[in-house]
Amino acid sequence: MEPNESTCRICGGRVREFFDFGRQPLSDHFPSEDELDDEFFFRLAVGMCATCTMVQLLEEVPRDRMFRYDYPYHSSGSERMREHFAATARRLIDTELTGQDPFCVEIGSNDGVMLRTVRDAGVRHLGVEPSGGVADVSRAEGVQVRTAFFEESTAREIAEQHGPANVVYAANTICHIPYLDSVFRGVDALLAPDGVFVFEDPYLGDIIEKNTFDQIYDEHFYLFTARSVSTTAQRFGFELVDVERLPVHGGEVRYTIARAGRRQPSPRVGELIAEENRRGLADLTTLEKFGAQVKRVCWDLVARLRELRDLGFYIVGYGATAKSATVLNYAGIGPDLLPCVYDTTPAKIGRRLPGSHIPIRSAEEFRAPYPDYALLFAWNHLEEVQAREAEFTKQGGRWILYVPEFRIG
Ligand code: SAM
Ligand code: TMP
Ligand code: ZN
Repeated sequence: MEPNESTCRICGGRVREFFDFGRQPLSDHFPSEDELDDEFFFRLAVGMCATCTMVQLLEEVPRDRMFRYDYPYHSSGSERMREHFAATARRLIDTELTGQDPFCVEIGSNDGVMLRTVRDAGVRHLGVEPSGGVADVSRAEGVQVRTAFFEESTAREIAEQHGPANVVYAANTICHIPYLDSVFRGVDALLAPDGVFVFEDPYLGDIIEKNTFDQIYDEHFYLFTARSVSTTAQRFGFELVDVERLPVHGGEVRYTIARAGRRQPSPRVGELIAEENRRGLADLTTLEKFGAQVKRVCWDLVARLRELRDLGFYIVGYGATAKSATVLNYAGIGPDLLPCVYDTTPAKIGRRLPGSHIPIRSAEEFRAPYPDYALLFAWNHLEEVQAREAEFTKQGGRWILYVPEFRIG
């Protein structure tokens, strides 16, 4: 095996690297002052399997390092996402959770942002969430949750205790799980004969189209396409029966999977796969071209930030996102170029960004005084952040975006 190759986690085929972001820290671990010398690093490189076309990381970070009691991401922190998940839950309740005493399992239920609505409807449910802190938040609100990693053994236990699930749902979680074989065997053990496994994750087609390269980080082990998900589902006796493009997090796809032969697939599945084939999403050359663009955009960002700083402007970051680790550590941007970043998450405030060690301050302090420019790492929450910080632009401040490329808003 060459150093720029690995073995596919799905099919055992050869994964060929198309981009290397170099040495990267855990994206969602924000060190305190006395933890700065103690960070975990790994090589963030991404490749595609020559056999099943699944795009995946070449190195896997142990799950217990990433999903710990103090996992800081709280899904309910964004109003738009709260609305998105309330609407998602209502749709599942109206279309799939309709029989007698239906049962809904969510993988990666986090702080209960989706299951809250299922609970309100009086529907039997169970979240499976390994990060204890967020699981406790949802439990305190009356959401049923098991603090565990979803895998085959967990799924079998749940099936034994609660019976079959009509819906197994996950958002922004399935792409976090390298051991997808175990997940599919678990879904097989847990899902009712006519049940559905529905999950939504960042879509490779959008990542390439919008150059949202910072969606690539330790937790995002897989970057899915309809084609790679369909092939994977088939391997485990399932079938991809529907796809829906979603505008959240820069562009995602919601995949609906059923047991093979149980549901009539929507024409949307074939249409999306045909579009992916037309766009060459499974061609290494397309992915290498994307890599070249990532490199260009990152070097351009550094050059423009230096230029603005040297002209005497004060530039800060906004949104201590997990995504920001990729761009900051790849481009080598530290406190000399970006003295601090503002965020609304209490657990992140007073800590540092991983790897770059840029201090995180409370969004409350953003206005005191406003900077000249704010580089927006939470670009997926652009409208919400701009509405919250309307006064910043009124007073002459400008937002800087780096996806799809450097732009002063
Ligand atoms: N579903 C929420 C959302 O979309 O906002 C949370 C997404 S968060 C990025 C990923 C979540 O998946 C974390 O809360 C993490 O603890 C959880 N997770 C990671 N591996 C898991 C596994 N094997 N089983 C269940 N949850 C897992
Ligand atoms: P995400 O991009 O992974 O969803 O993370 C968004 C981060 O941005 C999270 O740390 C919360 C923060 N944030 C703000 O600081 N202000 C805001 O208005 C919003 C919506 C998010
Ligand atoms: Zn493969």
